[in-house]
Amino acid sequence: MRSRTVGGLRATDAGTTLTLTGWVHRRRDLGGLLFVDLRDGSGLVQVSFGPDWTEEDDLKEAHTLGAEDVVKVTGEVLVRPQDSRNPELATGDVEVQVHRLEILNEAETPVIPVYRGPEEELPAEEQRLRHRHLDLRRRELQENLALRHQLILTTRNYFDRLGFLEVETPILTKPTPEGARDYLVPSRVHPGEFYALPQSPQIYKQILMTAGFDRYVQIARCFRDEDLRADRQPEFTQIDMEAAFVEAEDILLWIEGLMQELASVAGLAAQTPFQRMSWAESMDRYGSDRPDLRWELEIQDWTELLMSADSRILQGAVEKGGRIRGLRLQGGASLSRREVEAIEEEAKAAGAPGLLWAKRSEDGGSGPLSRWLGESHWGGLSARDGDLFLVAAGPDRVTSPALSAARRAAIQALQLPMVREHAWLWVLDFPLFEEEDGEMWANHHPFVLPHPEDVQRLDEDPLSVRGIAYDLVYNGSELGSGSLRIHDPALQRRVLRLLGLEDEEIERKFGFLLEALASGAPPHGGIALGMDRIVKDFLGVGSLRDVIAFPKTTAARALFEGAPTAVRPGELADLHLQVGRRKDEGTGGRDGPA
Ligand code: AMO
Repeated sequence: MRSRTVGGLRATDAGTTLTLTGWVHRRRDLGGLLFVDLRDGSGLVQVSFGPDWTEEDDLKEAHTLGAEDVVKVTGEVLVRPQDSRNPELATGDVEVQVHRLEILNEAETPVIPVYRGPEEELPAEEQRLRHRHLDLRRRELQENLALRHQLILTTRNYFDRLGFLEVETPILTKPTPEGARDYLVPSRVHPGEFYALPQSPQIYKQILMTAGFDRYVQIARCFRDEDLRADRQPEFTQIDMEAAFVEAEDILLWIEGLMQELASVAGLAAQTPFQRMSWAESMDRYGSDRPDLRWELEIQDWTELLMSADSRILQGAVEKGGRIRGLRLQGGASLSRREVEAIEEEAKAAGAPGLLWAKRSEDGGSGPLSRWLGESHWGGLSARDGDLFLVAAGPDRVTSPALSAARRAAIQALQLPMVREHAWLWVLDFPLFEEEDGEMWANHHPFVLPHPEDVQRLDEDPLSVRGIAYDLVYNGSELGSGSLRIHDPALQRRVLRLLGLEDEEIERKFGFLLEALASGAPPHGGIALGMDRIVKDFLGVGSLRDVIAFPKTTAARALFEGAPTAVRPGELADLHLQVGRRKDEGTGGRDGPA
């Protein structure tokens, strides 16, 4: 239908006659002359209509063109005069003088504009999601999805070169424990029984290892019914891999190689080897298992020093087994009380009762903490004029997240300079379990191999047992997570029992995995990287919704097509289901409740 796409037209094409197709992006009517920016998937080019070069009828028709009409034009490429070139546009040196115009399809006035002037803001996100077909015409989104495609392609080629096989695993499956709720699918033929959509292909990839596929990879869709945030979607894509007869080192090196290739596709740097840090060290120095190491600021332990301060809060916290830790911010005294309190609010939102703070200036100290500080304390803190100290006292499980949040907020508030632009980090040796409300949970999932040095403490002190588990962190974002796995069925059973599962439940939920492990399972391990997060973080955009063609809102709704929806009672009956009371009567769907 067309000779070529518009994005590649250059001055060297001058003199050629071409047929082009696309959308009317913008039109400017200068009386007799009409200029149209013609857009297709490859870019934009200016085309012009005028009495001297356009067929009379076609010119008349051109004056009726509206935004987003779909057209086909035939015309000649001309080099624009020097003073009317557009350096902002790749095709800005040329213009196509249209001889013939054919309107292929008229468009209704777009509900949200596709063309936006330089000063114009984007429509509200809800509007854009509701009319996603128009929003997706935006250059930024087209480019984001093009990068996503390139990254997926590079990933497939990379693993193919290394001898990995892509194997598809089921979508209708049995619950895979990854810590979120399952999306369930009722079975019509088996009343009262449900499939679960996979939270990850974890168990299948392990079974593939026992089945003798040495190296597996999959660009895998995962589903998790969990609270959504900017970096979480209910359905998302993983680069999921697993290999047999490997050590953790093999996985880390493979992934570093992959990230180098992906970063270079996106025009970023990924200097290898990546920095490595144990989980314990990361929590101690940054209060987080995914610290953003673009900034150096570290948490200090002032327990010994500040225990002697005459404060019941500080002393009480230490008596109960806690620590006194905090941040020293050079120049932080320039922040107003309100700004410091805003940082404290962030710490509170992360679960701390509050932060104590003190400013150091020429005439001494100020702020709630300062009244307990003598000169020896200021000396011990290495305080200098202009410093701000933020202090949290209590058990690490409370103070670490609080100080991590305070660290982020303080970096922002003070606009601290970065020490590097791309901070890659492996966090290693995560604890196998965590405790919440007296119950033990698998920190990651229950298949992580306990560290051989710690395994003998599994029964007496399980919380101190480390797993051979690693997370990949880029600029403070968790891009991926993996581990070596348990391949001994007896050890797997022991870990499941420690998590409070009865033998009957173990059999029912994981019998098939245990059977596979007992059939001669090779030592194996792997990792999964969040594809959506990689694209988002490489582009530096704020939300996963900017890198997914049809994303869900934070309320887990698809606004464009209007999902989820109610279904006809007959359909429910076929599925042997009955719906009780509906709490909301459809707040966001296009059609509302059925
Ligand atoms: P995990 O649950 O840590 O591990 O997931 C791996 C990576 O997937 C991404 N991710 C998400 N991205 C978008 N939205 C979500 N809701 C979401 N949840 C997770 C993150 C995360 O690091 N089976 C294990 C991996 C393994 O052990 O091999 C797993 O799924 O980037």
